[in-house]
Amino acid sequence: MPELQDKRILLGVTGGIAAYKAAELTRLLVTAGARVQVAMTVAATRFVAAKTFQALSGRPVAVDLWAEDSGHGMAHIQLARESDLVIIAPASADFMAKLAHGLADDMLSTLCLARSCPLWIAPAMNQQMWVHPATQRNALQLAEDGVTLLGPAAGEQACGEVGPGRMLAPEAICAAIVARFAASGAAQTVAHSSVPVLARQRVLITAGPTVEKLDPVRALTNLSSGKMGYAVAQAAIEAGALVTLISGPTCLTPPGAARFIAVESAAEMLQAVNRQVPTSDIFISVAAVADYRPLQMHINKLKKSEAALTLELVSTVDILTQVAHSSHPPFCAGFAAETERLAELGEAKRQRKRLPLLAVNSAQDALGSDYNELLLLDDDGSHPLPRADKLTLARQFIDHLARLYTGS
Ligand code: CTP
Repeated sequence: MPELQDKRILLGVTGGIAAYKAAELTRLLVTAGARVQVAMTVAATRFVAAKTFQALSGRPVAVDLWAEDSGHGMAHIQLARESDLVIIAPASADFMAKLAHGLADDMLSTLCLARSCPLWIAPAMNQQMWVHPATQRNALQLAEDGVTLLGPAAGEQACGEVGPGRMLAPEAICAAIVARFAASGAAQTVAHSSVPVLARQRVLITAGPTVEKLDPVRALTNLSSGKMGYAVAQAAIEAGALVTLISGPTCLTPPGAARFIAVESAAEMLQAVNRQVPTSDIFISVAAVADYRPLQMHINKLKKSEAALTLELVSTVDILTQVAHSSHPPFCAGFAAETERLAELGEAKRQRKRLPLLAVNSAQDALGSDYNELLLLDDDGSHPLPRADKLTLARQFIDHLARLYTGS
């Protein structure tokens, strides 16, 4: 059976150059078995004709709130009621602002307000518009209102600039929709109610490496790319969580809907985590935190000499252990890197750190790669997640965590 068989998806298209990618998204959703109803803003029809979407979806496109031929005259209510999911792709800065303020002055914005099913948006705009404080404020407001943000991605833009603001690829958006409908408990969630698995739960995530400075130009760090932690943040957002991401230095763009805190050293990460823990329901520690730091950070650059150099290192605080051992800990999960006897060493680590859930990965395979393979350890034993790209694994990890967290 096609993955989205019988799913009723309303695809909203707003005005932006990425509107052409929505045509491909329509095709992918239809191919996956979904019944796709397209609604466009007037601005979107200036980029791609409604006829294109009508041909691809096999249905008339809704544009005009005042159209005479829209059934019984309440088309926005009818379309909102008849959908299992509304996805706006691309979502322009203007449309995000409208949504964040509850404006309803055209067909698409009105049906977004009238719907009770989940609302997902895939922002697309010039990078300067995306990083503008107003857009960032709107993105966080939408996340708090339970809207799921997919992307944006970073890279070259149609305007010739480079940065965050590109719409996620249609394939990635379609895969996220398929994954959410497919996730066991979540299939029911998306199809039958408006409450996603981690709806409004405050999830704190650490990611990336830490950097421990020796002097102004030298540091001790590790090979973590941050990809797994960022993927976990994206998967948690897709599951409806309010995500705070604390990250060591990486080359990645944080998910748009996450509150982002950049740190460098293990001590800075500890401080940031301690500040956020009291207002977090769940703590997922994915960061590769340095276990040791130089005893001394030299103010001036160390000068070389003929003699061998011995560095004196001291232990850092184990952030996850400290949080999990506190008097009222949030639900804690860790990501362990092992190079041998994954299940045995992982379980000992889970017990030692007092974690309801620990994901173990093979350090050699996972570091820097786009792919991974996990062994989830919890009180019921071990649950292997076979090799897949990190976002797919992150979604499976979040589904597993949500089941443990909600006791379902
Ligand atoms: N962790 C942490 N703070 C540290 C070290 C690790 O919060 N100072 C967390 C990691 O984010 C991860 C978990 O602990 O979720 C396991 O990390 P890992 O490096 O596998 O284990 P360690 O406890 O450092 O033990 P070892 O390096 O000896 O395997």
